[in-house]
Amino acid sequence: MEFTGSHILSIAQFQRADIERVFQVADTMEPYALRRKVTRVLEGAILGNMFFEASTRTRVSFGSAFNLLGGEVRETTGFKTSAISKGESLFDTARVLSGYSDVICMRHPEAGSVAEFAEGSRVPVINGGDGANEHPTQALLDLYTIRKELAGRGRDIDNLRIAMIGDLKHGRTVHSLCKLLCLFSNIQLILVSPPELAMPESIVEALCAAGHKVQISEDLTESIVSVDIAYSTRIQEERFESKEEADQYRGRFRLNQSIYTQYCEPNTVIMHPLPRDSRACANELDNDLNLNPNLAIFRQADNGVLVRMALFALVLNVADQVDAHARDVIWHTGR
Ligand code: NCD
Repeated sequence: MEFTGSHILSIAQFQRADIERVFQVADTMEPYALRRKVTRVLEGAILGNMFFEASTRTRVSFGSAFNLLGGEVRETTGFKTSAISKGESLFDTARVLSGYSDVICMRHPEAGSVAEFAEGSRVPVINGGDGANEHPTQALLDLYTIRKELAGRGRDIDNLRIAMIGDLKHGRTVHSLCKLLCLFSNIQLILVSPPELAMPESIVEALCAAGHKVQISEDLTESIVSVDIAYSTRIQEERFESKEEADQYRGRFRLNQSIYTQYCEPNTVIMHPLPRDSRACANELDNDLNLNPNLAIFRQADNGVLVRMALFALVLNVADQVDAHARDVIWHTGR
């Protein structure tokens, strides 16, 4: 794909070579993310960061990634403080805000809304999650994490064995990740969920059409026995009619250290897009896994900055100029 000036709305836009390009640029961002070097390559550029749904890491990591490249961030959070609450359309909002920004990141509760917004925008728009539909940058950072975690273990993305666990119906991160995995070969997926929260049929069909082996299960322990990655997800409470309806599904797929020790291969990597629901009733990923070196959830979050820096650098066409605008960091970084 041509990155320069493009919207990043869906994984459907990417070919395998594009993924390699994103990962290669993300690798070069490490000295900046680790505060060993500073670059000013985007000095003067403005990111419009528009989040109409709850977000901590996606919003802040987009902002941090842009800051780390030397650019500035303007943020809008929630509908209440936006003129959308006065009835303004996404098209008009996009037309206006794209006059104030060089690139816009957006999260919105409705599927398709970010693409609709992009139609009105005069600058590239990056999808930070549109309802239960897609979350392309999360899928890219997840796959980047998978590749990094498996390096040195003689395993790679091709031939990957992965269990996806939890609310696969509403989880946009697993939707985008599955679409991304369709670009690779010979993958074994075990999709673990209650039948009511199963992965959408169209995505299962795409995985099968890509030649992957897909198993559907409701049993966590038998599904995590021979996988490289156990990818857990949160019950997406905000997509249910009521909290009570979501409550029925909590705690069904609890992964803790003793279950891990009993059932997983010794090096199985545990992933989760976060936030993990740490309320007592949730029982997703227990805190006793925190000391497990294969718990990759916080490395995933760190990798989000690298991948988002790479996407900004590619979309704004400065990937080859980052180092030319660099200097060493002079403050104490503690890293
Ligand atoms: C996810 C999301 O918003 O889809 N979070 C994230 O961006 N890392 C997952 C979730 O909210 O459960």
